[in-house]
Amino acid sequence: MKLTARERIETLLDRGTFVEMDKHVVHRCNDFGMENKRVEGDGVISGYGKIDGRIVFVYAFDFAVLGGSLSAANAQKIAKVQDLALKNGAPIIGLNDSGGARIQEGVESLTGFAHIFRRNVMASGVIPQISAILGPCAGGSCYSPALTDFILMVKEQSQMFVTGPNVVKAVTNEDVDKETLGGAMTHNSVSGVSHFICNSDEETLMTIRELIGFIPSNNMEDAPVHPVTDEVNRICHELDNVVPSDPNIPYDIRNIIEPVCDQQYFFEIQPEFAKNIVIGFGRMAGRTVGFVANQPNFLAGALDIDASDKAARFIRFCDCFNIPLIAVEDVPGFLPGVQQEHNGIIRHGAKIVYAFAEATVPKITLITRKAYGGAYIVMNSKCIGADVNFAYPTAEIAVMGAEGACNILYRKATPEERAQKIEEYREKFAKLGYIDEIISPCDTRLRLIQALEMSRNKNQSNPPKKHGNMPL
Ligand code: HXC
Repeated sequence: MKLTARERIETLLDRGTFVEMDKHVVHRCNDFGMENKRVEGDGVISGYGKIDGRIVFVYAFDFAVLGGSLSAANAQKIAKVQDLALKNGAPIIGLNDSGGARIQEGVESLTGFAHIFRRNVMASGVIPQISAILGPCAGGSCYSPALTDFILMVKEQSQMFVTGPNVVKAVTNEDVDKETLGGAMTHNSVSGVSHFICNSDEETLMTIRELIGFIPSNNMEDAPVHPVTDEVNRICHELDNVVPSDPNIPYDIRNIIEPVCDQQYFFEIQPEFAKNIVIGFGRMAGRTVGFVANQPNFLAGALDIDASDKAARFIRFCDCFNIPLIAVEDVPGFLPGVQQEHNGIIRHGAKIVYAFAEATVPKITLITRKAYGGAYIVMNSKCIGADVNFAYPTAEIAVMGAEGACNILYRKATPEERAQKIEEYREKFAKLGYIDEIISPCDTRLRLIQALEMSRNKNQSNPPKKHGNMPL
């Protein structure tokens, strides 16, 4: 069941901490009978409060007031809390449930969106911005969330579309219902617009609270440090049997990530989209880390367009907000195919290179098995700028698999000779220093924590520039 806008804010924030602003603001439109439709607050509730004792700013659209449509007055209220959040270095959370620009106000309301968008962009990378979509969101009400860091949607309750089913029918003659066009499942699994799919308002708001717990309030701070309640040098015996020695047998990369996290808890982001790459937060020795991991269970972990977009955006979020990155790598390469090439895997794949190379936070790589070709280089390799690279004894770093390579190079050799060459090929690259250490899987947690501790005070900056020109 949908909560009211006020109930949503109260559920989101620590009890009794909400301070409302601009409670008595009304819209200023006198056209189309609007002079008789003034409501105190005009359909947006805004202000600030706390999550786990930390200040956050918040605004919530009230769909019961003219479909949560955005008036110029509403836009001013939102812009005010955006300005305060930026000035005071606190996250801002938008609870959206809005039919977009208020049609009766025309350009006045459209301009309101421009004010909000500009502030979204200025705040990007300075304070975390989170958007919950808790009902139908159309037009401009989709673009502000799209400019923020994380979007959460509710199954069979929320939709996002630039134009709704009626306009789609009129323009393209396609018959589509709201849910298929822009429902939570569509945006979490197909378009990649949304990062979390939840079952209710309450679950969405609790997920936001949890997310806030992993991230700092602004780009000048570190993420909150939690008390260390899990042994730092816990030996993870279960990791010894996760990676199959046969490179063709898949496994779930989350079985590597989960055991190494504090309390074995991994907070996955966008689990339904581009399943060939896994992203999310965990804590190690109480501190937040961002994991970016190839998933051999899906498309053999190959990098495709969606995986590249998903990973690059997450890497950049972590870099903006001082969150160290751990790449867990088992990748056979970029996904071949006409569809991939024609849709721009070159342009999209370049985003991962760009994001890893540009990131100045501590960067650690763990190669569990395959690290082949261009995909090896882009997945946080040593020369892209990783601080520490670990590999399991099962790792193979090469332009291609050792077997494939030796089958070409030693085509005429006996099987015994070839087997020996395959071993040599595997070993050779460990000697070149591209890997810092070959570790036993059971020591992964300790080794990663040691590397994170070693690089905690890393101080690196890129050449001064206005901004780079990332491939988009
Ligand atoms: C004024 C609006 C409104 C709007 C909804 N309402 N959207 N009033 N401006 N944008 C009103 C409805 O008239 C209705 O009023 C009440 O809100 C509830 O709406 P319903 O249609 O009954 O609800 P529902 O069936 O759930 O459909 C929700 C909806 C639909 C899918 C959001 O209302 C819709 O399509 N709205 C218009 C969307 C849109 O085109 N917005 C303009 C976008 S332009 P009553 O009085 O009957 O209860 C834009 C440009 C920004 O945003 C561009 C930025 C780049």
